[in-house]
This record gives sequence, C-alpha cells and structure tokens, in this order.
Amino acid sequence: MSRNLLGIRTLDKKQIEDLLSLSADFKLRVIEGKPVPRLDKLVVGMLFFENSTRTRVSFEQAAHYLGMKTANFSASSSSMSKGETLKDTILTLRYERLNGLVMRHKMSGTPTLAARHFGGPVINAGDGQHEHPTQALGDALTIIERKGDLEGLVVAIVGDVEHSRVARSNAWLLSKMGAEVRFVGPRTLIPPYSAMLPASVYYDLATGIAGADVIITLRLQKERMHEGMLSSIGEYAAMYQVNRDTLRYASPDCLVMHPGPLNRGVEVDDMAADGEQSAITSQIENGVFVRMASLYWAFSQKLENESN
Ligand code: NCD
Repeated sequence: MSRNLLGIRTLDKKQIEDLLSLSADFKLRVIEGKPVPRLDKLVVGMLFFENSTRTRVSFEQAAHYLGMKTANFSASSSSMSKGETLKDTILTLRYERLNGLVMRHKMSGTPTLAARHFGGPVINAGDGQHEHPTQALGDALTIIERKGDLEGLVVAIVGDVEHSRVARSNAWLLSKMGAEVRFVGPRTLIPPYSAMLPASVYYDLATGIAGADVIITLRLQKERMHEGMLSSIGEYAAMYQVNRDTLRYASPDCLVMHPGPLNRGVEVDDMAADGEQSAITSQIENGVFVRMASLYWAFSQKLENESN
C-alpha cells in the first residue's frame, strides 16, 4: 500500500518524526557515500503546473539518488493545452502505469483531486496557498540541525503569509512539534482567518521577532496579489525587511531562513541572507534529503529501511 503526502496538517507528530529521522539518515548515507535503498523499478511523474527551481530539481535529484526514473510533464506542452481536463490527464498517467506523482499546481487542493483518480502515491510539491509539506520538512530538518530540537523554540514567519503555502505548512509542522509560531506582516498580507491556523499574529516587526530563535522570511508573491494589498515595495521593505538593524530585536543567535526565491533588498538584505546567522543554503541542501524520505515514505517502504 502506498500513501499520499498532501499536507502537514493531516500528519501526526510520530509521522513527522519518522519522516525527519529518515531524512537525516538519507543525508548521512549520501554524504558518507554509503548505499541508500533503491526504488529501481519505479517511475514517478513530475507534474509542475507552476514554475519551480529548487523544488523541482531537488525532487529530480532525490529520485536519482533512489534509482527511480522520472517522467516529466509540463502543462503548456501537454494535451492540457488542447483542453484536456486534469482528471483525464491524471487517468492517462495512471493507465500509462506511472507509479507515483509529484505535483505542483496554482490551485489549492489539486493534489488531493489527483490522488482520487490516480492509483498510487501523490506528493504535493506546493498547491496554491494551501500547503508545501516537503518545504516544511526541509526547514524543520535545518532548524533541528542548528538548534537541536524544535520544542520550545520561537519561530517568526515574516512577510506575505497570506499567499504562502510554506507559511501554512511550517505553522502546522512547528506547532505540532512544540514550537511557538508567530505570523508577522502587514494586515493585508496576514490571512483574515489566521485564528484557524496554529500561530499568533503580529503586525509590527520589532514585537513579532522579539526573542525569536528562528525567522523565516517570505517573498512578496506579487503574482498572487490584487491591487491595494501593498502601498509600495519600498514602504514594505522599510517596515518589514530583515536586516542587520532589525535582527537586533531577535535572539542573538537567531537563524535567518527563506524558502526562496529571494527578493534581495525587499524582504531580506544581503547581510541577513548571506551572514553567519543565515541557514538558507542548508535549507536548499536539506530539500533533497527530505524529498528522498518523502518518496520513500510515500511508496511505503519500511521506515526501518533495510540497508542493502
Ligand atoms: C515557494 C513556493 O513555491 O511555495 N518556494 C519554494 O518552493 N521553495 C515560495 C515562493 O514562491 O515564494
């Protein structure tokens, strides 16, 4: 039996811990050149209906390390440009005997819909403003490596929370693991229903990041914004940019994180993005290992993984 990875909200603490320890185990094996389990006979479809650099390439790299084949798909060059529905596209891939799907789409909920029509595991690689589970797992692995544990940490997620699936998946994961999560940003960029999310809300940067152990900065997702959400980029940067000056409000050893892509000079400056406190390159690196773990987990291999 395979299983889907559609979001963090529906996982329990034990499942998150299993995925994180499997990720750490894969990382060690890859870095030390030790063998990793092989999923040789499996072909996974890479369905990216939305642009992606790091998520797509890290899934490719993860599949490569596990010996899987990938079948690439782009909406613009597929029959969807001829009017084929998502359901028929998914059924086509099912009857072509693909074994699993990794899927990114601009509409929230589409990986869940795909899972209904596909006879194998579906992994959500980011759906609309809903969830991005593998990004949250990579962020958690990075924080654990630097801070030892998630329990009791104060994590401020700063910026365009409204449009961020990363913010939502991180809020679910970190709160389930015992961290305090804060959303920080202007009123127009904090979800109006944020009381339903496991985070407290701050509209002022200095108060929101006061004493924070980790700051996750977010890109302003202009492509998802409508008019009136932002007065100007310059004004936003003046009030919410994480930089040398504003970092003073956080804990002295506060980590600076960003899921990418970065808009340098807007949500974060070079000093914060590239300085000693930055964990951004580790987030990218860990993205590969959590995606290996996610593929392995989704295909329901035993977590005790046989060392072949
Ligand atoms: C993010 C995404 O696509 O959700 N990036 C990522 O996958 N690492 C965030 C963004 O687009 O700003």
